[in-house]
Amino acid sequence: MRIIKVSDYKQMSQRAAEHVIGKVRSSDCVTIGLATGGTPEGLYKELIEDHQMNGTSYRCVKSFNLDEYIGLSKEDTNSYFQYMCSNLFSHIDISLDHTYIPSGMADDIQKECDRYENLIEEAGGIDLQILGIGANGHIGFNEPGTSFHSGTHTVELTASTREANARYFSSLDEVPRQAVTMGISTIMKSREILLLVSGKSKQEAMKKLVENEVSEQFPASILKNHPNVTIIADSEALELI
Ligand code: GLP
Repeated sequence: MRIIKVSDYKQMSQRAAEHVIGKVRSSDCVTIGLATGGTPEGLYKELIEDHQMNGTSYRCVKSFNLDEYIGLSKEDTNSYFQYMCSNLFSHIDISLDHTYIPSGMADDIQKECDRYENLIEEAGGIDLQILGIGANGHIGFNEPGTSFHSGTHTVELTASTREANARYFSSLDEVPRQAVTMGISTIMKSREILLLVSGKSKQEAMKKLVENEVSEQFPASILKNHPNVTIIADSEALELI
């Protein structure tokens, strides 16, 4: 894992954007794995600004999101579909037909998980996966204890993850208890991974990621076994290392 230390959130977002833009411009057809949460919002802002100023085109880009809440429809303002539209898709020239997010409303969720996993394979896999990290080491919605062999699957969200995400909802009660997420093995099949880490709330996670052994109790630790991982972290997140 290569760690790039930057001064703050803004710089993290800019460095990440340079990386993504470089990838998008380097090839006709790139498949990008996208993350949600607060961490990549700055990156998406930078991508939009670059698209408007420099014309970087996403017409040939395919995207696969990491996860979606179960029970939230595409129209729900808290669905990750809405998050992606308002934070990125509506502001760049990506075709919505090329953007994929698992459905949290499927009647048969297992079938939906299998369909999503197949879609990624049919697209030829993910060239660049963007990740954030949960304070408990989760990536996507793969909570501690998730098998490293997991493909796209359903998860029960932990109390701490629901609490951390409650800021987007009007009350904790409204935060869904389950989600569909790419599995650890799905994420690990990506050819390249870019992990973004910012702020005090991620200090402990960052310390564990760097210092601890690879363990299913800390999902992000598996990234140590991937051949092409870049972490862009700000100085606050790296303070305990
Ligand atoms: C959420 C998302 C993850 C994200 C993580 C951290 O639960 N499913 O993809 O990386 O939490 O979120 P944040 O960036 O808001 O700290």
